[in-house]
Amino acid sequence: MSSLKSFNVLVISDEVEKLYDIFESIGITLRKSFQQKKQTLSNLSFYDIAFLDIDTEGWENRLMKLKQYIPVITFGNSDLKKAIKSMKLGATDFLQKPLKSEELKEIFENFKDKPQIEIEGIIGTSKIMDNVYCGIRKAALTDSNVLITGESGTGKELVARAIHKLSERKEKPFVVINCTAIPDTLLESELFGFEKGAFTGANYTKKGLIEWANEGTLFFDEIGDVSPLFQTKILRVIQEGEFIRIGGTSYIKVDVRFIAATNKDLLKACKEGTFREDLFYRLNVIHIEIPPLRSRKEDIPALVEHFIKKHSSKRKDLQVRGITDEALDVLMNYSFPGNIRELENIIERAIAFTNSAEITVKDLPAYLQKNSISKKPLQGTLKEAINNFEKELIWSALQKSRGNISKAAKILGIHRQQLQRKLKQFKIAT
Ligand SMILES: Nc1ncnc2c1ncn2[C@@H]1O[C@H](COP(=O)(O)OP(=O)(O)OP(=O)(O)O)[C@@H](O)[C@H]1O
Ligand SMILES: [Mg+2]
Repeated sequence: MSSLKSFNVLVISDEVEKLYDIFESIGITLRKSFQQKKQTLSNLSFYDIAFLDIDTEGWENRLMKLKQYIPVITFGNSDLKKAIKSMKLGATDFLQKPLKSEELKEIFENFKDKPQIEIEGIIGTSKIMDNVYCGIRKAALTDSNVLITGESGTGKELVARAIHKLSERKEKPFVVINCTAIPDTLLESELFGFEKGAFTGANYTKKGLIEWANEGTLFFDEIGDVSPLFQTKILRVIQEGEFIRIGGTSYIKVDVRFIAATNKDLLKACKEGTFREDLFYRLNVIHIEIPPLRSRKEDIPALVEHFIKKHSSKRKDLQVRGITDEALDVLMNYSFPGNIRELENIIERAIAFTNSAEITVKDLPAYLQKNSISKKPLQGTLKEAINNFEKELIWSALQKSRGNISKAAKILGIHRQQLQRKLKQFKIAT
């Protein structure tokens, strides 16, 4: 059991001294200096797992806090009510005192195969997501900058928000900067603000986004697409934590944690000279790579269920509760280039379309139905086949344009009005 040595275990109990031997018997050394009663978030980042004695005062509050970051095993005297309560509050397991080495060993062995702790609002228990959860936890416990990478629609913003919500900054602002939406001409005024009288028309002092984020988190979305000027301007703030408002005379200090996200390969961009290497290394302190949905298909059923719950209330006349096996099968066989955003969109639309309490194959977009139809022999009239083909094309254009009709019409090479007629004909709502 030599591998257990690598576990950093936190024990919270009034009787810690009595427990050193039993942990030692399974190869785990409890480091004395770590077993403090008061835990701050930053020293929590040392631990992989916590053992909480529920015969100590205030255990409920401790459990609520700890379980957000690490799995918590509770232990205590044989008080069934309390043991059950601890499980209900989110303990991973309960052990009865006195602890026995066999039972302890079993806990650690189970724990190694299990996913990391759940993070509210993020669905997925596939093994490949473990690194993501681990990254979120580590990032939440520190103030280091974070770079989140992943294809479009994989949940980069969701992860950034989760880090903020779990961190000590959670009561402070989470400010999103959509980097590509700010032209270079407005850059400084948007980021740093300006002093009254700085230029004609500056009739008041305006705070920039960076100042709004003070004591909180600043999220640079789509950082891979920013101009060289943008890169230079933010490097100083990230490095020194200070900036000057336009027309200002002195630096303003800010305390901000930076999280950046991109679907680009920044390292490659650095090599090609389009992204500053110094900025890259400043941001890339903790790196979280979110895998695409096609490489974690086992998460699809849980995600579908989650999105049905999330969107079912939008139907006032019908309660959509689930999905047929056949429809789920179609989804499992699809590659999801648009990742989770695309899946959510499919479910939301299916809920709007369906006539039954369960989503069926025919409630799915035509480009997906093709997957199930193509397995069956071709049938129907030529007109039907052409209509289906048209529907598919329209759907894929709408996906590409993210529902923007003018753009979709352009992709299809037809007029906007013509596309609108088709949408009506095929009963496609956008
Ligand atoms: N693991 C998940 N569990 C539940 N919902 C998720 C998950 N991942 C993403 N989502 C949902 O999918 C949608 C897209 O996620 P998000 O906006 O965070 O992706 P993104 O990577 O920022 O996308 P883009 O690159 O297009 O900006 C959101 O509605 C989000 O709530
Ligand atoms: Mg995004």
